Amino acid sequence: MRLVLVGPPGAGKGTQAEFIASHLSVPKISTGDIFRANVSQGTPLGLEAKRYMDSGGLVPDEVTINMVRGRLAEADAADGFLLDGFPRTVPQAVALDKMLADTGANLDLVLELIVDNDEVIRRLSGRRTCHGCGKIWHIEFDASSRENLCDRCGGELYQRDDDKAETIAERLKVYARDTAPLVDHYGAQNRLVGIDAMGPVEDVTERAINELRSFS
Ligand code: AP5
Ligand code: ZN
Repeated sequence: MRLVLVGPPGAGKGTQAEFIASHLSVPKISTGDIFRANVSQGTPLGLEAKRYMDSGGLVPDEVTINMVRGRLAEADAADGFLLDGFPRTVPQAVALDKMLADTGANLDLVLELIVDNDEVIRRLSGRRTCHGCGKIWHIEFDASSRENLCDRCGGELYQRDDDKAETIAERLKVYARDTAPLVDHYGAQNRLVGIDAMGPVEDVTERAINELRSFS
């Protein structure tokens, strides 16, 4: 299955992507994770991406599209994938449509995670990420994360640089301007399904998986 997860910063895309990808046995491909890995390794791609990420803006389409094209050409993505954080602009969506058409494939479904703004701010300001394994935590909702250590790998938890209040505001603005139009793009293709992403993580996962069941 070829799936895209779309939704505002902090909607829970990364959290849900992990469960849904494992449920479907497809790789989870997160452009944010790939950029952050490049930033921490100090690669040329990471140095370029950091300039945009730190201010809450988007990495240019051309750079992002080329990176995703390379990742989708890897063997594990041949039969399916879950994209988290891509596409994020209409030109990226058009490029993805073309990439898939060139290999005779197409997207099966786009899941839109729907949450209100207050919840997004609450989720982002309490988010912590594990340095060791990348697991996503929340200081309010995951009691064990208050020790600042990951209970999966023992790694240290850190707060993302772009989760500061002023950067969050900019990311929300960019989402409304550049990414929200994807809802119309995929709606017109009849591929879009909205998921109520308020409430506990497990409930959101269940709603998403139910949608996948009714689709297949
Ligand atoms: P990216 O990493 O994709 O950031 P984002 O879209 O802003 O999304 P987030 O990772 O902030 O949130 P999420 O929806 O994954 O939420 P999460 O599951 O973590 O991108 C970062 C930057 O990279 C961009 O700003 C841009 O610069 C660049 N970039 C990436 N892709 C790009 C592209 N395609 N084009 C150009 N530039 C690109 O959850 C958030 C918190 O809430 C966590 O603490 C979690 O534990 C908690 N939580 C989740 N679900 C629930 C729930 N149901 N109840 C309570 N808490 C919950
Ligand atoms: Zn960990």
